[in-house]
Amino acid sequence: MTDTAHTPTKNQDFRADPAFEATRALLRAAQRIAVMSGAGMSAESGVPTFRDAQTGLWSNCRPEDLADERAYRQRPGWVWDWYMYRREQLKTVKPNAGHIALAEFQQRHPQRLTLMTQNVDRLHQAAGSTGVLELHGNWVDDRWLDPCPKTPACPVSRAAPGSPPRCPECGHLLRPDIVWFGDSLPAQVLAEAERASLACQVMLVIGTSGVVYPAAGLPIAAQHMGAAVIIINPAPTELDRIARHLLRYPSAQVLPALLDDI
Ligand code: OAD
Repeated sequence: MTDTAHTPTKNQDFRADPAFEATRALLRAAQRIAVMSGAGMSAESGVPTFRDAQTGLWSNCRPEDLADERAYRQRPGWVWDWYMYRREQLKTVKPNAGHIALAEFQQRHPQRLTLMTQNVDRLHQAAGSTGVLELHGNWVDDRWLDPCPKTPACPVSRAAPGSPPRCPECGHLLRPDIVWFGDSLPAQVLAEAERASLACQVMLVIGTSGVVYPAAGLPIAAQHMGAAVIIINPAPTELDRIARHLLRYPSAQVLPALLDDI
């Protein structure tokens, strides 16, 4: 953390926080801005985060039981049903004021902003953001668990309904196109995210605990290249030490004001 980092108390009005105006000045001056969001970005839309002690998805399920290919191969029906349940929940959620503020900012500055997210909920796109780099996939798409032996490969749409659906020709199982522990991130998406991180002058890191790599390495790379990393999160994170400024407020509250008129 640099000497300009500032940790306000929770109840302080963010407009009175020196980090708020300092961040606005950085955003005004920056030619290239990167945003990396995590589960907290969607918390005010009602989507549970992963690591909140009471409500987080990983507080009552073990990631290794649900977000892991080995677990899927052992209990495909159980894991598939959990993702279908989550999919139904995500169908009902709406973008919050933070997603909308970022989308409107991108519409005003299409060349300046690159938006990367660890979220699979598609709420940035629902708010109107385009070109979103989905580091961990999304809840909408599925893919084959194993490579299709046919050329051309059977389309995913061929899968026969089931839990999980199977290809009637090859017998292969579908799986959610979400990055699980042990999976590689989509190579092109990661390469674009790395490029944006190395080129930006400001990176907003919003609503992530900063514990999952390689995503958490992107702000570190940006900071090494001289970018000002701004963390927007009501709680401490693993990345606070590299922050130029800490804005310890919920993102749906602070983002509309932070980006207003810039
Ligand atoms: P976590 O659950 O680890 O962290 C969520 C963060 O959001 C915490 O730091 C909270 O303090 C913060 N937060 C909560 N409410 C907020 C609000 N209103 N505004 C801003 N921040 C808020 O979620 P991620 O860091 O996204 O991976 O987790 C990273 C990855 O771990 C996920 O993408 C997922 C998970 O396992 C995969 O599924 C591959």
